[in-house]
Amino acid sequence: MTILSTHLENQNTDPSLTALIQSITVCCADIADLLKHGPMNDILGMAGAENVQGEDQKKLDVISNDMLKEALANTGLVKAIASEEEEHCVPSDPDGKFLVLFDPLDGSSNIDINSLVGTIFSIYAAPEKETIEDTDFLIAGRKQLAAGYVLYGPSVILTLTTGHGTHMYMLDQNSNAFLLFVDGVQIPRETKEFAINAANQRHWAEPMQLYISDLLKGETGPRQKNFNMRWVAAMVGDVHRILCRGGLFTYPWDKKDPDKAGKLRLMYEANPMALLTEQAGGAAFTDELPILDIDPEHIHQRVPVILGSSEEVNICVNYHR
Ligand code: AHG
Ligand code: MN
Ligand code: MN
Repeated sequence: MTILSTHLENQNTDPSLTALIQSITVCCADIADLLKHGPMNDILGMAGAENVQGEDQKKLDVISNDMLKEALANTGLVKAIASEEEEHCVPSDPDGKFLVLFDPLDGSSNIDINSLVGTIFSIYAAPEKETIEDTDFLIAGRKQLAAGYVLYGPSVILTLTTGHGTHMYMLDQNSNAFLLFVDGVQIPRETKEFAINAANQRHWAEPMQLYISDLLKGETGPRQKNFNMRWVAAMVGDVHRILCRGGLFTYPWDKKDPDKAGKLRLMYEANPMALLTEQAGGAAFTDELPILDIDPEHIHQRVPVILGSSEEVNICVNYHR
């Protein structure tokens, strides 16, 4: 069995990047341990505060954010971090080589029902300057040095890319190490499965209404095949399913809140998932361009997301042209 660090060495990964990834995964193994003891640790329920985006924070959002912040600060490799749960970036080590962005706990609404949640992260090279500001994080997703997520499910799984394919590792309970089990994920090009929160249908733009209604028509409709639908309500779970067996995941633009271009955040949700998807042979778009080509404007910016099996993503995006 190949352990994570050996696999990264084999890909000639910069040793300090390997060390950084390693410390993120050690912290995620600790988060997994905490989740396992859920109700017994008094870690469920609300934290009683809102994050910068006006969303109610759960206790676990706050705890996992603090754990990751501390773990990253201890590496001495990170110049600054940005997180879903922090209004502004947080400076760390002035000599650090990297910037790290993360969604400490994705799928918060699943915590209290013992369902899938995960941690999503994105790593960039830090600019050569002393004081880091929010604007220093506004780098296109294409420039990520590494991206990944840890899924806290029946197994704890790390899915990672450093730009040399997308790979999956499983946390081994005995050794506490992540072991490689899929060397080079390949997303099937075609699919009959899609994921969307259909309760928002009336708020979607016209092209998305049309695309989904054509899928629902099944065999007798223009697509001439029957589709199935799945919705985990945690992007990390939906994307994991798509990396395993294909599919299309979308959280589209909707007119519920005109100030928000979608629900998902570019810098610590869409970008890392887009890199993992592209590196696995899939596609990841907004309703017009590849997510990785977006010029970011804000660390908490929201974008429409359409990702997964490349042919299906193309069909969906074409409805918008
Ligand atoms: P977070 O828990 O980090 O705020 O993210 C939740 C996101 C995403 O993971 C998921 O796909 C989506 O919200 C679920 O949205 P609905 O509540 O509309 O199902
Ligand atoms: Mn999230
Ligand atoms: Mn979150």
